[in-house]
Amino acid sequence: MSEKKFTVGSLIQQQRVTAPIEKPLSEEKEEKVLTVSQQGKTYLIKMPAEKKTLLEAAFEQNQLLDYKCQKGTCGRCEVHVTTGNDLLSQPTEKEREKLAEALSSQKRLACQAVVSSN
Ligand code: FES
Repeated sequence: MSEKKFTVGSLIQQQRVTAPIEKPLSEEKEEKVLTVSQQGKTYLIKMPAEKKTLLEAAFEQNQLLDYKCQKGTCGRCEVHVTTGNDLLSQPTEKEREKLAEALSSQKRLACQAVVSSN
């Protein structure tokens, strides 16, 4: 029967230093951004943490879209959604009335369209 031999080094607990595990770039959460244009200007609007209208989200991010009534009647907040249309709620009744056929060309009322991550 062999006796197990211990050395001083084998009895000292060693701390292993390992490099932090980095996530591959493909697994990092991509920030969702909408791109809209209004009156010849382009605005980038990041997805807010909570549900908000596109107009509210834009203002919180200092993207100063033009607007007036905030009730869906004047049409002044109309924007063309270039990217991220899938991040917006379905058009409201007021948007359908105001924009009619323009809805199919990705026009939305910023005061009515709700930005949603779901
Ligand atoms: S601000 Fe008037 S319709 Fe949006």
